[in-house]
Amino acid sequence: MCGIVGYIGSKKATPVLINALKKLEYRGYDSAGIAVFDGEDIVVRKVKGALKALEERISKEVINGSLGIGHTRWATHGEPSDVNAHPHTNLSGTIAVVHNGIIENYAKLKAWLQGEGVVFRSETDTEVIAHLINYYYEMDGDIFHSVIEATHRLEGSYALGVICSDYPDRLIAARKESPLIVGLGKGENFIASDVPAVLEYTRDVYFLDQKEIAVLYSDHVDLFDEDGNKVIKQPYHVDWDLSSAEKNGYAHFMLKEIHEQPKALTDTMRPRLVYENKKPVDINFDELTVAEHFKNAKRIVITACGTAYHAGVVAAYAFEKFARIPVVVTVASEFRYMNPILDKDDIFIVISQSGETADTLAAMRLAKEAGIHVIAITNCVGSTVSREANDVIYTWAGPEIAVASTKAYTTQLMCLYLLALKCAFLREKFSRAEYTRLLSELEQIPSKVQEILDDKTGIQKFVSKNFNKEKVFFIGRQFDSATSLECALKLKEVSYMHSEAFAAGELKHGPIALVDKNTLVVAIATDPKLYEKIASNIVEVRTRGATTFVITQDKDGAFAQAADEIVSIPHTESAFASMLSIIPAQLFAYYCAIHRGTDPDKPRNLAKSVTVE
Ligand code: M6R
Repeated sequence: MCGIVGYIGSKKATPVLINALKKLEYRGYDSAGIAVFDGEDIVVRKVKGALKALEERISKEVINGSLGIGHTRWATHGEPSDVNAHPHTNLSGTIAVVHNGIIENYAKLKAWLQGEGVVFRSETDTEVIAHLINYYYEMDGDIFHSVIEATHRLEGSYALGVICSDYPDRLIAARKESPLIVGLGKGENFIASDVPAVLEYTRDVYFLDQKEIAVLYSDHVDLFDEDGNKVIKQPYHVDWDLSSAEKNGYAHFMLKEIHEQPKALTDTMRPRLVYENKKPVDINFDELTVAEHFKNAKRIVITACGTAYHAGVVAAYAFEKFARIPVVVTVASEFRYMNPILDKDDIFIVISQSGETADTLAAMRLAKEAGIHVIAITNCVGSTVSREANDVIYTWAGPEIAVASTKAYTTQLMCLYLLALKCAFLREKFSRAEYTRLLSELEQIPSKVQEILDDKTGIQKFVSKNFNKEKVFFIGRQFDSATSLECALKLKEVSYMHSEAFAAGELKHGPIALVDKNTLVVAIATDPKLYEKIASNIVEVRTRGATTFVITQDKDGAFAQAADEIVSIPHTESAFASMLSIIPAQLFAYYCAIHRGTDPDKPRNLAKSVTVE
């Protein structure tokens, strides 16, 4: 996720762009840049660091010009640096581009453009777009057609702002999947990733639809479909205030990020799937220098903290089930003092959203000192973990602002499932037919997450009656016991309700002594082989007065009689259900926080990134 803006009008573009970017800093803050047409040339200024660094850089010069684009970056391809910052230009600097999204086929396009003589300056996927537009522009000299031709060749997601010094009267914008709006002013027009950027100037906007293209002039805006046919639509009048606009209309970042999961999961998964005839047939981790190592490794060792550790616990079930390889998962704060037994044939994985967690870093350094190859799964390009690990798999979830991790967790899971399936295939644990069947199932996870998010009424109703229970226990078996850990953490973090997770079979060995009428027991049940067992556990706690809530794929079966409330999740391969069953639990935690009057975005005593021990 990055923020893009653009301006055409009669004011000086630079302050307008900087002002608009300030409202989008929550979308990315590792580097920033602008490109302004000064009457003769396109002047580009871009620097690593927060927007303030860019402001300082340009404070001593005057850039004249009333046409420009700007960007605040959340790195995906290439570390945060001046050269990787946007805007990117063609070689002669006559075309400048800002981009938000991920170009999945950028490596292929880059190789082809290099064959055409293009010299690349950055490691970004975005630079490909500038050169691609230039390629078509050199053929027909029409910037609008060139943008259309270029977008036809792009796979993945994009919101684009493009300016060309030969066309100083217009700014071109295009989008597929990444958000983009056009702000309609008087004698001036704007583009932005999100409404807050333009609210100071106008409340009338177009929300661009999939594959729409906008051409902005000072006095009007034309809209087109992907083939250049004119589109007519009505502008939308925004009546939200600035703070809700920053959250895209959601009351909190946590809720917004919960809803971003279908997109984040798609961004994580799709670039790594290999397609034939539009069907996924393989997984490709370009970033792994040791993919073959998964074939012969004797063991997988995973270490992380908090939510990331919980992703590791789910992964252990996945690797063991699919690849039949033993997995050890340890919280990093323990691992670092363990004098761990490590072997050069181990696959060592660290997981960290921020890439800055002190314990995780210490654990990783221990493994590196022992000469072990470290694979990191992280969301933050340029973070310490990403710099020190041998190989890095990015989750590409975009910045997570809420302290409670939601989309970072599910995208970590997606990376780990992809790894587990690839590992299983390399180790010949299933046939190609089974492999492709599983990949097709996996591919549907984002839309199934969306289905859950589309109907939250059951959860909201249940929370309204149960938000003041004294204790909440989450139970499950196998994958579901791993998911329970994350459910309990989410609830305690944001609502401060006392919550614990138990493997359901452990209830009788102690915890059931706590169960009474002030207890809520939430059961996760996604494995048909274990439905009856979980149903018995529910009956046991209900007999002792507990209220019961079941998250399952089996709404009308084993639980219909046993539970007080059932939330059903769409059917999927039960081993993949961890990416679905967590969604109602995240919503449950969020709504409990709201009912109890706590701030889900900033829980007491917690920090987003724990950089001290
Ligand atoms: O940035 P990291 O993934 O390394 O952070 C690890 C934990 O601190 C983090 O997951 C924490 O548990 C979250 N607040 C959970 O919501």
